[in-house]
Amino acid sequence: MTDTSIKIGDSDYPVLSGTVGPDVIDIRKLYAKSGMFTYDPGFTSTASCESALTYIDGDQGVLLHRGYPIGELAEHSSFMEVSYLLLNGELPSGDELDKFSYTISRHTMLHEQLAQFYRGFRRDAHPMAVMCGVVGALSAFYHDSTDISDPQQRMIASHRLIAKMPTIAAMAYKYSVGQPFVYPKNDLSYAGNFLRMTFGVPAEEYEVNPAVERAMDRIFILHADHEQNASTSTVRLAGSSGANPFACIAAGIACLWGPAHGGANEAALNMLREIGTPDRIPEYIARAKDKNDPFRLMGFGHRVYKNYDPRATVMQKTVREVFDALNVSDPLFETALRLEEIALSDDYFIEKKLFPNVDFYSGVILSAIGFPTTMFTVLFALARTVGWVAQWNEMISDPEQKIGRPRQLYTGPTERHYVPIAER
Ligand code: CMC
Repeated sequence: MTDTSIKIGDSDYPVLSGTVGPDVIDIRKLYAKSGMFTYDPGFTSTASCESALTYIDGDQGVLLHRGYPIGELAEHSSFMEVSYLLLNGELPSGDELDKFSYTISRHTMLHEQLAQFYRGFRRDAHPMAVMCGVVGALSAFYHDSTDISDPQQRMIASHRLIAKMPTIAAMAYKYSVGQPFVYPKNDLSYAGNFLRMTFGVPAEEYEVNPAVERAMDRIFILHADHEQNASTSTVRLAGSSGANPFACIAAGIACLWGPAHGGANEAALNMLREIGTPDRIPEYIARAKDKNDPFRLMGFGHRVYKNYDPRATVMQKTVREVFDALNVSDPLFETALRLEEIALSDDYFIEKKLFPNVDFYSGVILSAIGFPTTMFTVLFALARTVGWVAQWNEMISDPEQKIGRPRQLYTGPTERHYVPIAER
């Protein structure tokens, strides 16, 4: 893995190569040898771990899960198959997929007492707040899968998290609208079951629309994993201390909520609603470019992609499919398309390489399906759970794994002595 080194000060440091992507300088001995730390707030040049799960080439706009391009997976695969792939490294055979899907479907119910837990939240609570609380509380209900040193328990916890997340998310929605919880129905697909638990009511049969089910499944695939993003790094950091998987995923959900990360899908649709009609776009483009205005085009720009986010390409196509299936349209889609067109021909966005990201079009689809904006990030969390647990498992199994403990560039006062209050 290493055949070169680089000199920093008086010492040589190994340069490590992955299968593809930039080489990394192994600076683990830097402090011991030089007494210096590296400084990289935001981790713009830091590989925090070794991983074989997901690869992004931001310049080319490429995203691979275990080597497979996201576009191919979105087109031909299913969320269950992608989940198996992420967890196990290879695409499943027919039997393996059936067995995996069966296992997941047998973990969809929640401990009944958790239903009481929901009732402790205000009805108007943001569903992401509910998600953080309920997922964190899972470790109080599933004690038999919190021993992280036992691979069997780790696997059961992973299956439980993937299986229960749609139930938890749908219940968060039902609670907010004052409708009864709908129990899972295990002969439905992962996406179909989620749609029924969200939009079905006990008083009527719910028929899953196959086109919407397919779109939902594809949206889940597009969000399944994304390398060492902020929430995944949060899950890894929380897990590095030995915290149980439910606590770690709750930490990931909390991080995902922020508008710079998963919260951008909600913010993007709110922005489109605020812009309204295409004639107002120039005003918002001008604001996004104004250094004195904190406004940013939500759903635009990415730390890694300096090209079109390949997930946004699929998402844009899926908008039309959902509109056709539901026989609806939304003028905000036209506004979004026009906004993209104007931004992509504007020097500011060209120079800074700002392109639509996964969140730009997802809100239009989710809104057409019937989700309120507050549920958008919940859906991101639901789908990203498989990536989080796959990354968490990979980390726990890594013999090089240590507790994550960054250092700092200290700029506070040097040592001084306490002054009694009367003398201050
Ligand atoms: N609108 C206007 N200007 C922007 C935008 C934007 N959406 N994004 C970045 N810029 C500008 C920014 O002002 C900065 O300009 P300058 O160099 O003159 O100071 C430059 O582009 C680089 O931005 P940055 O904030 O230093 O870049 P970053 O890598 O730290 O941030 C980002 C990446 C995604 C947080 C940022 O692009 C952003 O805030 N976008 C809007 C929120 C969003 O859509 N987030 C979803 C990300 S994709 C889903 C996910 O994986 O979570």
